[in-house]
Amino acid sequence: MSRRGKITVVGAGFYGSTTAQRLAEYDIFDEVVLTDIVEGKPEGLALDMSQSRPVEGFETQVTGQTTGPDGEGYEAIAGSGIVIITAGLPRKPGMSRMDLIGVNAKIVRSVTEQVVKHAPEAVLIVVSNPLDEMTALAAKVSDFPSHRVMGQAGMLDTARFTNFVAERLGVPVHSVRTLTLGSHGDTMVPVPSACTVNGAPLADLLSPAEIEQLVDRTRNGGGEIVALLKTGSAYYAPSAAAARMARAVAEDAGTVMPVCTWVDGEYDISGVYLGVEAEIGATGVRRVVERDLTESELASLRVAAEAVRAKQEDVASL
Ligand code: LAC
Repeated sequence: MSRRGKITVVGAGFYGSTTAQRLAEYDIFDEVVLTDIVEGKPEGLALDMSQSRPVEGFETQVTGQTTGPDGEGYEAIAGSGIVIITAGLPRKPGMSRMDLIGVNAKIVRSVTEQVVKHAPEAVLIVVSNPLDEMTALAAKVSDFPSHRVMGQAGMLDTARFTNFVAERLGVPVHSVRTLTLGSHGDTMVPVPSACTVNGAPLADLLSPAEIEQLVDRTRNGGGEIVALLKTGSAYYAPSAAAARMARAVAEDAGTVMPVCTWVDGEYDISGVYLGVEAEIGATGVRRVVERDLTESELASLRVAAEAVRAKQEDVASL
């Protein structure tokens, strides 16, 4: 197997460390770098992951690096082709993702400045919350071309929706296709018209009320887990989603997936980072893929765009 390149995960919390583990286990990178501001934590986790290599059978080198408040240690990320930013606080029970905007904006801003300095050619994948706003902020601070900055949300929300449909109908997850667009928040737009089970429309199998129930659970999918965990938020499905996006970049795969990306005219929406389907390859987002939506789905997508646009304009000043 040929391994290539270096990828960095900033933030060694549960989301960051499980992402690093998945990336390492793909065995497609020369090196996975994991950083954190907690002294020794990334080094310890990297050492532990490295020791799993003989058991899991992968050769990717895993490096941990503590970083300091003035960017000390960031030299370790030099040459990364992809940087995944997970840094920031997770929600506590009862909080919305938007409640994190002030504190996480400061963190994402300072991380992005260091990434620009040490890995100026990288594709950025942002996962910090509130997702759409943090993606917009990273794009603004980095001044990278918009195709090189994207956020992870649609893959996760879609995975949740698919899981709920599969469980409800008692069918394998691989027979179910679902889709969510819009924001990773209150204006998430699940797209029932794009949902199928073994190729049959979901609407043939479930009543509108039943679909609405699953849509609702999807929209609150992160909050449901936060409420159960009591400390911290979800990370198994989120890290799976982020790692797949990174893999599509690393392999120049051209896979079409829902991501948070710069929308410039598609669906008659312009100038905003929003969850839409896009073709992902080595340059990041190759192109946004537009699909036919129903009138009400399209209306919801436009509402989502305006909601995140207003917040994204504020975020630059945080
Ligand atoms: C969630 C967080 C990671 O949806 O946004 O679980």
